[in-house]
Amino acid sequence: MSTSYAVAIVGATGAVGREMLRVLEQRRFPCGQVTLLASHRSAGRRLPFRDGEIEVRELDDAGRAFEGVRIALFSAGAQTSLKYAPLAARAGAVVIDNSSAFRMDPDVPLVVPEVNFAAALDRPRGIIANPNCSTIQLVVVLGPLRAAAGLRRVVVSTYQAVSGAGARALAELDRQTRDDADGRIPTADVLPFPIHGNLLFHDVKDPSGYTEEELKIVHETRKILGDAALRITATCVRVPVRVAHSEAAWVELERPMTVAQARALLARSPGIEVVDEPAARRYPLPRELAGTDAVFVGRVREDASVPGGLAMWIVADNLRKGAALNAVQIAERLVVRGL
Ligand code: A2P
Repeated sequence: MSTSYAVAIVGATGAVGREMLRVLEQRRFPCGQVTLLASHRSAGRRLPFRDGEIEVRELDDAGRAFEGVRIALFSAGAQTSLKYAPLAARAGAVVIDNSSAFRMDPDVPLVVPEVNFAAALDRPRGIIANPNCSTIQLVVVLGPLRAAAGLRRVVVSTYQAVSGAGARALAELDRQTRDDADGRIPTADVLPFPIHGNLLFHDVKDPSGYTEEELKIVHETRKILGDAALRITATCVRVPVRVAHSEAAWVELERPMTVAQARALLARSPGIEVVDEPAARRYPLPRELAGTDAVFVGRVREDASVPGGLAMWIVADNLRKGAALNAVQIAERLVVRGL
């Protein structure tokens, strides 16, 4: 009989948590017992899994639910992770945490399997961090470019889907769209302003004027690529798309590549699909790519304004490769090694 692993999902009722459950099922992850945890608001709710349903339990203060769990996937916000991830690790689980709580902790590896899986094997706290959604799809592309040609500088602008702000934000977008069509003025409760027909920024808490999200891209990309001095800057924008983040990225390579060479390199790199036939209007579309697993690259072209410059468009499902799928891919590779 093949080995199976008891899995817990913390935040199972959220946009990412639900996707984690789907991804485990779709990829036939060798789950033994599956424990679904959320706040008291969701206790007793039942979520479909395989041929049946699993009842959601409340995460209790003592973290008793983690007894016997081998893999704990967390996506219930940084506060919940700070409190409960160490409890789960102490109970013997490998924690894969989708929140920002531990990403910059030097004792917690920050992992995108295609780029730096080996880092996941050295985890002094028993916790592995899943990067920010926008960072993941960017580094899947930067990794092979850096390995082949060296990176001098990266400039990225994101176009981030509403589902990245959670299930309640997505419901708010849907309500605002209906209200607008019915002639009512859309109002906002979850995001600071209406997102329907609009473009928003994340909050600025840093004196530099950069948003939290922009700083995450900068610091997380440097950590994953192991290049603390990488020159990188970001502008992050929330757009009224339901699922799949898009990014316009400009890279300056140490050793210039032609567009054809870059396309060929990316097409053979793990986790990437190149969709780039400009004459046929073939390029990555977020609406079409929601629900898929790869990082899609298109519109590759020379940026003639700098030596070694390339511009491109990068799209990925933020709930899957940007969150749930990346976490499960880490777990899959750990399982192959016996954790
Ligand atoms: P609940 O649905 O019971 O509120 P999203 O990012 O889509 O908003 O989802 C957040 C997830 O985190 C949900 O599953 C939510 O559960 C869960 N969550 C939020 N706060 C807590 C908490 N204090 N303890 C456990 N789960 C929490």
